[in-house]
Amino acid sequence: MPATYAAQVLWSWREPLAAEAALREHLEQQPEDKDALQTLISILRESGRADDIAPLRRQLHERRCRDLRVPEEARAEVIAFLEAAETGAPPPERMADAYVAALFDVYAPSFDDSLRGFLAYQAPERLMDAVREALGERRALDVLDLGCGTGLAGPLLRPFARRLEGIDLSKGMLARASERRVYDALRAGELGAELAASEAHHDLIVAVDVLVYFGALEEVFERVARRLAPGGLFAFTVEKGTEPGYRLLPTARYVHHLDYLRACARAAGLHPVLEREATLRRQGGQPVIGHVVVLTTARRA
Ligand SMILES: C[S@@+](CC[C@H](N)C(=O)[O-])C[C@H]1O[C@@H](n2cnc3c(N)ncnc32)[C@H](O)[C@@H]1O
Repeated sequence: MPATYAAQVLWSWREPLAAEAALREHLEQQPEDKDALQTLISILRESGRADDIAPLRRQLHERRCRDLRVPEEARAEVIAFLEAAETGAPPPERMADAYVAALFDVYAPSFDDSLRGFLAYQAPERLMDAVREALGERRALDVLDLGCGTGLAGPLLRPFARRLEGIDLSKGMLARASERRVYDALRAGELGAELAASEAHHDLIVAVDVLVYFGALEEVFERVARRLAPGGLFAFTVEKGTEPGYRLLPTARYVHHLDYLRACARAAGLHPVLEREATLRRQGGQPVIGHVVVLTTARRA
């Protein structure tokens, strides 16, 4: 009988110590068994032994970093991020770049199928509903797609674009985006750093399901504002938070409160054009509600 199954049976008989002993003995032989580690963590959590979980959780995160081939020098930062997501400890300002790149490189081949199918992902469509309304008759735009991923938004943006560029940290995702043949240019890089280094101006900058990997947004908004042409639009989706500011959830994604988004926009000199809530995708069978926001450089009459 596999050790995890035996432990679950013991646990269901309300024998936590026996279940723990079975798993620990098994882990001595097979320290890399992720299922056993996870089962042990669940049993300890349900037994209220939070202190005993910390070293096991670290072991799991180290294993995850190795599996994803996160470079050695970035692992401490990634582990701190994952621990904050699970424990609610004060989170870093955004997901570590090395983790974003490693995660999405692995995810790239199955990204479209799993998001569109299993997760019923609709963020690009909901963002484009808002962008269409905000643009009215405007066309032939210079468009920048931040965190473009596999380019799901590309074909929707193309009819409005004179020039369409995408930036992403994951080369695997960019390779897929390039196969769509709708982008004029695709660049690998961190979006904040790319915006800071750029001298170009865009009529429309979009970020679909990307700012969920950022907690603090002040700096990104400021950098976007500097790269918008006069009257330019910044359109993005984030997941809706109900507490002030932002929070990092156990899903390893941040949620943002609308008041915080408004404050970041104001500080960057951006004005609201449109704000609405929409279902962005599903998770665990439940709709994930997000904010779809369009901002502009010019105050509207
Ligand atoms: C969930 S995917 C969304 C992709 C695409 N926008 C879409 O809607 O299909 C998030 C993408 O953002 C990219 N990303 C996350 N943080 C980033 C950052 N700081 N700089 C550049 N790209 C980033 C990831 O590599 C990934 O491709």
